[in-house]
Amino acid sequence: MIKTICCIGAGYVGGPTMAVIALKCPDITVNVVDLSQTRIDAWNDRDLNNLPIYEPGLIEIIHKCRGRNLFFSTEVDKAIEDADAIFISVNTPTKAYGVGKGQAADLKYIELCARQIAEVATTPKIVIEKSTLPVRTAEAISNILKNTGNGVDFQVLSNPEFLAEGTAVQDLLYPDRVLIGREESKEGKKAAQTLVDIYKNWVNEDKILTTNVWSSELSKLTANAFLAQRVSSINAMSELCEVTGADVNEVAKAIGADSRIGSKFLKSSVGFGGSCFQKDILNLVYIAKSYGLKEVADYWEQVIILNNHQKRRFASNIVKTLFNTVSGKDIAILGWAFKKNTNDTRESAAIYISNELLKERAELKVFDPKVTKEQIFSDLDRLETRTEEENKSLVSVVEDPYEACENAHAVAVLTEWDEFNGYDWEKIYRSMKKPAFVFDGRALLDQEKLEEIGFATYKIGKG
Ligand code: NAD
Ligand code: UGA
Repeated sequence: MIKTICCIGAGYVGGPTMAVIALKCPDITVNVVDLSQTRIDAWNDRDLNNLPIYEPGLIEIIHKCRGRNLFFSTEVDKAIEDADAIFISVNTPTKAYGVGKGQAADLKYIELCARQIAEVATTPKIVIEKSTLPVRTAEAISNILKNTGNGVDFQVLSNPEFLAEGTAVQDLLYPDRVLIGREESKEGKKAAQTLVDIYKNWVNEDKILTTNVWSSELSKLTANAFLAQRVSSINAMSELCEVTGADVNEVAKAIGADSRIGSKFLKSSVGFGGSCFQKDILNLVYIAKSYGLKEVADYWEQVIILNNHQKRRFASNIVKTLFNTVSGKDIAILGWAFKKNTNDTRESAAIYISNELLKERAELKVFDPKVTKEQIFSDLDRLETRTEEENKSLVSVVEDPYEACENAHAVAVLTEWDEFNGYDWEKIYRSMKKPAFVFDGRALLDQEKLEEIGFATYKIGKG
């Protein structure tokens, strides 16, 4: 029986996942730990609007559980020692150095966790991979635990997370499935059952799948690859729609009505962003290559190539339409997050598109309902395309969407925030330079209405 859980990594996965476990298992103490004092302070902030991540429904759960059976701290060693089960939910970014640079997953944070657990633990632990990991990582974790530990028993399980940002709480409360990978041994099965018992508190048992560890690890990468592939597939069609006079939304509806294809994840866009799709596909490509499977690697790499093309062509279409020059022109950027209902901007298409426009010396006024000014500048500065001063002189971040659009030559809609639809577009039109352009990269707005007002419009995927 699990009485105390530790989760290493208080990020977009660790925070919400543990909050839901704490909510549904009031008898279990859940300690979420992180190296980042700033992040932990934010999780402990008395003002719940200052939590480090924005997710609909999260504040209510934190309000209920924090201080009851859910705790956030930087005392990693203590949390490891106290725990019966330890979730590892640290980041696994694309490697930026050495062998596999630009493709392989950087496992240094995972390895550090494994070594720390081995060093600290004096009682048996179930160690659960929550992070997304290359297939066969559990073997490495097991090796470290068994060879450097204090001789205590460790069982390593794989339990990948399938939540999507913006809907994390709902995804966690009502998952399509929970996946648990375990060793075939008696001890492996017993450890898996312990984890099943936790999830059973709110998830129907027929949705809890147990597999061998390698299938579980690989299923996570496969799921993300398939999802991203759908986005690249519909985005590939969006370009074809634009040149043939078709409408990608109508095509998506028509094909999605076929139950074998299904209607979800067929929304054409400026390209997928987020911390995982690109990183996980690159990792899959790397794994395939490392086994000599060139055709498999090339097949999946195409999903990324198309995504990069989609972002590039959106930016160059803006430049082309604005009479081949945006130098010195104001462009309003509506939306910076990689999707609606999150403040996460990792790999957001908005960063890439803005960078392309800035290279052409456009002047940007950015508005996003949830992303801070500091985050937007930090995203741009990290590109190292321009100095911080140059970014400050070309970009301003505003708190009012109408201010962003005032005197602009064009508006680019880059995130599908619902509120953009409710704006007073007549007022926006009146305040803009003429001809006033709207580039709708999310096929979000009512194009007919905009054109009636007087806008010249471009809608992704509409010829
Ligand atoms: P994140 O960067 O938001 O959070 C990771 C946290 O781990 C950071 O706060 C970091 O400070 C902390 N950390 C790193 N090393 C540590 C250590 N040794 N000790 C203590 N803390 C440490 O990352 P995330 O978005 O939560 O993703 C975590 C993992 O989950 C990744 O493998 C990702 O691929 C996977 N995943 C993410 C999502 C998502 O929607 N973001 C969904 C499913 C799976
Ligand atoms: C994705 C998966 O959906 C989750 O199951 C997975 O757990 C997670 O990655 C992960 O491993 O990190 P997430 O990236 O949070 O979740 O969000 P998605 O809803 O998948 O959107 C990803 C990107 O694709 C966004 O930029 C979104 O705007 C774009 N997208 C999505 C489209 O352009 N069209 C669509 O139809 C769907």
